[in-house]
Amino acid sequence: MKSIVRLQSQSNDIVIRCAPRAEIIYWGPHLTHFQENDIESLIRPIANGRLDVDTPITLAAENGSGLFGSPGLEGHRHGQDAFPIFTTQSISHHQQRLVIEATDEIAKLRFTSEFYLDPDTGVLQLRNGITNLTSQTWQLERLAVTLPIPERASEVMAFHGRWLREFQPHRVALTHGSYSQESRRGRTSHEYFPAMIIGEPGFNEQNGAIWALHLGWSGNHRIQADVKTDGRRLVQAEALYFPGEIELEANDTHWTPWVYATYSGHGLNHMSQQYHSYLRHHIIRFAENKPRPVHLNTWEGIYFDHDPEYIMQMATKAAQIGVERFIIDDGWFKGRHDDQAALGDWYLDTEKYPNGLTPIIDHVRKLGMEFGIWFEPEMINKNSMLYQAHPDWLLELPGYDQPTGRYQYVLDLSNDDVFRYLLERLTALLNEYPVDYIKWDMNRELVQPCHQGKPHAYQQTLRFYELLDILHERFPNTEIESCASGGGRIDYEVLKRTQRFWASDNNDALERQTIQKGMSYFFPPEVMGAHIGNKHCHATRRQHSIEFRGITALFGHMGIELDPVKAEISELDGYTKYVALHKQFRSLIHSGQFWRVDMSDPSIQVQGVVSPAREQALFSIAQLAMPDYTLAGQLRFPGLAPDATYKVTLIDHPDIKPVREGGHTMRDLPIWMNQSIRVSGEWLMTAGLSLPILDPETAILISLTRQ
Ligand code: GLA
Repeated sequence: MKSIVRLQSQSNDIVIRCAPRAEIIYWGPHLTHFQENDIESLIRPIANGRLDVDTPITLAAENGSGLFGSPGLEGHRHGQDAFPIFTTQSISHHQQRLVIEATDEIAKLRFTSEFYLDPDTGVLQLRNGITNLTSQTWQLERLAVTLPIPERASEVMAFHGRWLREFQPHRVALTHGSYSQESRRGRTSHEYFPAMIIGEPGFNEQNGAIWALHLGWSGNHRIQADVKTDGRRLVQAEALYFPGEIELEANDTHWTPWVYATYSGHGLNHMSQQYHSYLRHHIIRFAENKPRPVHLNTWEGIYFDHDPEYIMQMATKAAQIGVERFIIDDGWFKGRHDDQAALGDWYLDTEKYPNGLTPIIDHVRKLGMEFGIWFEPEMINKNSMLYQAHPDWLLELPGYDQPTGRYQYVLDLSNDDVFRYLLERLTALLNEYPVDYIKWDMNRELVQPCHQGKPHAYQQTLRFYELLDILHERFPNTEIESCASGGGRIDYEVLKRTQRFWASDNNDALERQTIQKGMSYFFPPEVMGAHIGNKHCHATRRQHSIEFRGITALFGHMGIELDPVKAEISELDGYTKYVALHKQFRSLIHSGQFWRVDMSDPSIQVQGVVSPAREQALFSIAQLAMPDYTLAGQLRFPGLAPDATYKVTLIDHPDIKPVREGGHTMRDLPIWMNQSIRVSGEWLMTAGLSLPILDPETAILISLTRQ
């Protein structure tokens, strides 16, 4: 049995000693001169005062063999077989794939690890499975993917958030003990996006060695980085289970979700580019591979106030603005007049829509737009026909009260009658109406998620996937957005089944700048819903110019979320302008390399995309707060071709439009703002471009075109 396996990619490699006990011994930059016996250099000394043997951090990180940290597996049979130790039985290695099977013959368990290292992007997909080899049930408590990381990885970057303020990055020093983030909310959550980045202290957008991972799972999760007292470090990612939730009967196998890990030697941008490219090639599937249509979503325009005639007027205006997909949000189904009733009653409200939806859909289609509609299938209000008929369909722990969220409860998807009902309703509606897109919402967290008295949060998430999978088989061209109060259910596993994420319910452009930046670490712009909202944002009561809102929404899957019928002319002109700009640059934004730029003044936020051949680039510079200094300094562009010459063009600037001379903040502009200039890529990357002085909460757009 060949024991040492190296999986290689262009940027990084992983070396695994597969037997007798499997452990990762190297995960870092790609090696060009690697020889198997090189690994002898890593044999550790045995310390005094501790165990008399070396204790490798194995793939299962078993406590039973003398690892005292968080094990990769926990479980038992009525207290027995709780310390399994696995010995490798088989290794299957074909090119980029490696499967290691290891067993414990005493505990009668098999531990399987599957690796796939993508050769082009360097993203490592990894999962572990546990199989019960005997007829007595094994109670699984925890099953994680464990990745050792080097001692020099001592700074963690992770994301926290809340509703209306998702994807906020923070850093902590990893020196002793553990740093752990988890969600027990039944979805990825607004609070802790399931990912962690650990690197050499001070890593930034362009520099530093980092090891990153994301757990592709839409339910409860934990990611934990540990420093052992001997200085070794590891990171673990897992789906979280409630007591009694997972029981393995004879020959049952339970898998962790896939973990997507990558090493970058060139900071965060390179990490994101690896992930973006991986998603583009392996996970994202757009119906018909067409450009992402610009949306108009009715929610912040009319809320629950649905009048078909008026909605048709909205559609007419939307088409004039350049919108390509028109979406009717919440409020269209029977009895849904506010958020207190009707969830579960997935029948058209014929009082609001006496002629059905068909006249609206026909109108939308005649205007050349696609049609989309909102659903929240997993939920139920007690004030609904469905609840009257089936009070026992809730996901609940009988005998206990449970708090509602947004006045709603969750349906028990493990109940086959519930599942069949939802499938029947969705199928009937999608058969009746040509629906190109579903906005799939999920506005409540799972409290007491029980089926027949037993915890069922894990199963609930699997049933949600199954519902999406069956619908996809039946309606392969209907795209789906994962919404969950904006930002609450975002991960790579749900992305296999959906085409868009509603990043946040907050359409405030200032907040969106940071939320969208946070999301960009793991997701490319084409799956990130980004809308121009009302001038007065309903979430924050702030007011922003159309220019700031337009530029902010440009770098995603763009949409508009307001009532265009009531909008002032200047606003309408703005929507039209930014929709057109988005379309002009859409293929670049949705296929190029994404870059964030570290600026010495953090109030200046810069992001951009550069086309794969480095022919074209588009950058936005947003001034988030009052700048620290009078002059904004130089922007050194990343990702260009040093030997090329670029034409630098100011595409959009809110302040100098009318005069092109100065403006509110400057008496004279940098010269490139009045006339296009031609500069070498090398110069733009190393010396840079003088930035204008901007007011807070404004932004500009710059394009670079290779000459
Ligand atoms: C959630 C969504 C919003 C909107 C409302 C409708 O909050 O995130 O975008 O669809 O529900 O009720």
